[in-house]
Amino acid sequence: MSQLNKIAKNILSNGKGILAADESNGTMTKRLESVNVPSSPENRLLFRETLFSSDGMKDFIGGVILYDETINQVASSKQTIPELISATGAIPGVKVDTGAKVLAGSTEEKITEGLDGLRERLQAYYKLGARFTKWRCVYNISDKFPSKLSINSNAHALARYSALVQECGMVPIVEPEVLMDGGHTAETCFNKTSEVIKRCFEELMIHKIDLSGIILKPNMILAGTTSDEKISSGEVAKLTLKCLKENVPSEVPGIAFLSGGQTEIEATENLNSINKNNDTNFIMTYSYGRALQKSALKFWSKDINNIKGTQKVFNHRANMCTLAAQGKWTVELESQ
Ligand code: G3H
Repeated sequence: MSQLNKIAKNILSNGKGILAADESNGTMTKRLESVNVPSSPENRLLFRETLFSSDGMKDFIGGVILYDETINQVASSKQTIPELISATGAIPGVKVDTGAKVLAGSTEEKITEGLDGLRERLQAYYKLGARFTKWRCVYNISDKFPSKLSINSNAHALARYSALVQECGMVPIVEPEVLMDGGHTAETCFNKTSEVIKRCFEELMIHKIDLSGIILKPNMILAGTTSDEKISSGEVAKLTLKCLKENVPSEVPGIAFLSGGQTEIEATENLNSINKNNDTNFIMTYSYGRALQKSALKFWSKDINNIKGTQKVFNHRANMCTLAAQGKWTVELESQ
């Protein structure tokens, strides 16, 4: 087993998942202001440190994705944030793209940037303790989109990023996110997501990526948010598994889904259904941002010094997601 494969499996095994706490300062400011908490470096640290020092970390969380600000911060215990995370048994990771910008040639779409100077930034993050990284591309669905240009250029960027990350001894999370927004059907989501993922792997192979040392972070196959179509979690699981079986090479050790705007319960129920029906060798777990933190953030905002209470809310959510990653979740467990 290669070192990279070992890191990937350590992050994803035994029902553990990834806490995606890598919101940029802009996104985190929106999240904090939505619950009336001022967005200062101190408040961003306090909320995140509260989660990272929860009891649930050691049982449920295999990896944490950090933002540049957070990976450089020091906890109240005087440990650096990567040290605090490592002490729980989880592996620190970091988002290394610099965001999705307007794509020249198809200006209603986005291209993710951040390749300039990436090799040097990766070396610095490795020294800070990161052992995996994240790069997110976004694609919107409409009659014309995603275009070939967006699919090809984002796949190329993901492959160049992955090559640099593996060269530096870290595991790249490859995140092609086909967004939920729109009135499209689940079948359209299936077709577009399949095209995007297929193209990503073609490009990863051209760039000689060790596929046993990556983690794929895709969207689930869902109907668009404004679509009239309502599909069951069983249907979500069926379409999602079909898409991944058809397009992901078997060497890939694991798949960690994004929540993408699903509610906490939807994201948990759908992951549970995927695992109940998982007839692949891929580990199927979570790499959730909003679906792991939403309730905890709401609770914390009522009294930002109520650390224990906030941790209890977070532990519950992480516990539910970990049960779902093993196909053992039921709705009754939510209220126990
Ligand atoms: O890139 C997206 C995040 O890492 C996951 O966030 O679960 O809220 O979609 P989400």
